Amino acid sequence: MFRATVITCSDKGAKGLRQDTSGPYIKSFLEQLGFDVVDQIIISDDLEIIEKSLLHYADSVHVDLIITTGGTGFSPRDNTPEATLKVIKRIVPGIPEMLRAESYLVTKKAYLSRGVAGIRNRTLIINLPGSLKAVKEQLEWLDNVFDHGLKILKHLDTDCGESS
Ligand code: MTE
Repeated sequence: MFRATVITCSDKGAKGLRQDTSGPYIKSFLEQLGFDVVDQIIISDDLEIIEKSLLHYADSVHVDLIITTGGTGFSPRDNTPEATLKVIKRIVPGIPEMLRAESYLVTKKAYLSRGVAGIRNRTLIINLPGSLKAVKEQLEWLDNVFDHGLKILKHLDTDCGESS
């Protein structure tokens, strides 16, 4: 069973000024796939706080997957991609490339998300946009990541020959 953490990055959410629906949705989506979601938290958009949280869950809790939601846009307080880029050791460009390509078929605003994805040791980190609509759409396209990608990361799958 893979272990995961869901992090909502939102100044308003952290202050209790906005109800976070995206974080709980991601949590229950992952649980339905069989993930053990060890934490689902809301933090502010502070770059240092996001960076610290990512490091905590990657280096101390050793989760296999961290999904962030929010803070990927153009606002001056949107810091999630920068915090993620500070902690990852290997970038995974294909994930955001695919997410933006698929999203563009749904909304022309898809490229306004600057989300990134990458690997820190044995932890995969993926940035999703903040809206529940975007989260619902993008989670559906990550099925190969949740299964085959994580298995390769954890050395549970070594053979890609069977994949389509
Ligand atoms: N991607 C999908 N699939 N669906 C969406 O509705 N919204 C876009 C984009 N990506 C959207 C999407 C919009 S409007 C914005 S501003 C950016 O994600 C950034 O969102 P964020 O600042 O909440 O992270």
